[in-house]
Amino acid sequence: MKTLPKCQNKLGPLSFSRTHTILIDANSFNNRGGELIAQHGKDMWFSNFVKMPSSPSSFMINRWSQTVNRWPEISKHLKSIKTRASVRDVEDAIIKYNPKYKGQWSFDALATFVKRVPDTENYFSTLFPKIAALALKLPNYVKKAIPLLQAGHPASITLSQVQISCLLANAFFCTFPHRNATNPNAEYHNYPTINFTSLFGGWSERKKEKLRAIMHYFNVMTDEKIKPRGLVTFERRVLVDSEIPNWSSCTERMPKLHVTSEGSIETEGTGMLQVDFASSWIGGGVLGSGLVQEEILFLMNPELIVSRLFTEKLAYNECLIVTGSQQFSCYSGFSDTFEWAGPHEDNLKRDEWQRLQRQILAIDALHFRQGRDQYTMDKVTRELNKAYCGFRGEGPNEPDIATGKWGCGAFNGDPQLKAVIQLMAAARARRGLAFFTFHDDKLKRDLTQIHNLLVKERTTVGILYDVLVDFCKAHQASSGSQLDLFAFIKNSLKPSRSQLTWINKNQEL
Ligand code: AR6
Repeated sequence: MKTLPKCQNKLGPLSFSRTHTILIDANSFNNRGGELIAQHGKDMWFSNFVKMPSSPSSFMINRWSQTVNRWPEISKHLKSIKTRASVRDVEDAIIKYNPKYKGQWSFDALATFVKRVPDTENYFSTLFPKIAALALKLPNYVKKAIPLLQAGHPASITLSQVQISCLLANAFFCTFPHRNATNPNAEYHNYPTINFTSLFGGWSERKKEKLRAIMHYFNVMTDEKIKPRGLVTFERRVLVDSEIPNWSSCTERMPKLHVTSEGSIETEGTGMLQVDFASSWIGGGVLGSGLVQEEILFLMNPELIVSRLFTEKLAYNECLIVTGSQQFSCYSGFSDTFEWAGPHEDNLKRDEWQRLQRQILAIDALHFRQGRDQYTMDKVTRELNKAYCGFRGEGPNEPDIATGKWGCGAFNGDPQLKAVIQLMAAARARRGLAFFTFHDDKLKRDLTQIHNLLVKERTTVGILYDVLVDFCKAHQASSGSQLDLFAFIKNSLKPSRSQLTWINKNQEL
């Protein structure tokens, strides 16, 4: 398979543009050996930017009903989190500058976590003040306004790992203004949540393991000796109408396919474009109780969580690609059996922009409450376009794609249908697929077989699309009973009786 770093497009110097915001000074970075200095810029207290807690335009009402600047208030309370801070101290500080949520936000998960996890050498009581100190560096670390990655607008943001850690330390201490209300009229209602409140309440074993991963991340990022200093890019891509393929007339043949029931996208798929089985609200339930592929990925690579700060809900024709995030932890299990399994040493090489050579592609499948709803061509085409939006490369030399049962767990999709859809999108994008069936041996066998058949028959994407049209019709006629797509394809590709007569006649001649 084609993997990074062997195949990658030349980047050239780090440079900003109308659609590429860089939060560090690109000149210093390019000319002084990757030096990381915060890029200066104006504060932007507008709805198309992240409203920063440190903005001079940010005000709050204090306990005495006075309107005061938010940042001095936050600073006062974060500075009070001194060595040997307890969960109570953390809670008190957070509630002081979020007085509206007193009695509403619960910290029981954080408190139980600290009690339950062996706290050797007062790990947490010394870590909380370090996270607070990191959050307080916000005005020094992020000096340029962060634009939102808004729906319908392809754009990217590059920032340093240190800047991300500072933003996440602020999320930990719930400092982001205008981000707590979720009602439909709220200013940022179309953005995921970013303040960590939902992680701190509602104790469960899941929360324990999640908090272990998050705390480990902060422990590394507050350690001057080991904290990494690379860059990470978050890119929103949009497939505009004129780029949407006319699937029925696509002439591309099946791509190269590697199917395996062992291993995972993030480990054995190293160096490929790794698919995040995403929610349209990027990160899904990572800050709540969700704990499947996307949430686990975000916990192992917590830098991904910062995407929630600026990525508007993905539309049907959009995806997010993150380049350079670091894996800090290992895990075992999945969902209720998930456990944080310790630190991970990330030995990936970095590219010319000092980004780790890891590319993660977030694409959100449709969520089918009723399985039968997926067998209509408008749904199939939506999934084809979504996958193609992410798979489509932008240069001549792109790595292959590591994926698997996208949309087939929490989102209830049909694994055979989703595999065929991803094969078609990859064929159109001219990229190979590594397909991880995640212990599903039957799917591995069946998919390998059907792929061999499609290759042998020189089936094009267009032909396969027409087969899917017939399959959906057959499904609707079958009054709800589950049909097997691979059997249907085999049947459809069998030469018809008239074709057979013609072939036989010609062979006789
Ligand atoms: N590598 C390969 N395959 C995997 C891996 C892995 N690391 N982890 C899981 N699988 P799911 P969805 C397989 O349910 O249906 C989240 O809340 C495994 O067989 O995570 O697209 C998001 O935020 C699993 O059953 O993806 C969304 O809201 C299957 O992949 C929603 O779930 C599907 O994984 C997306 O749900």
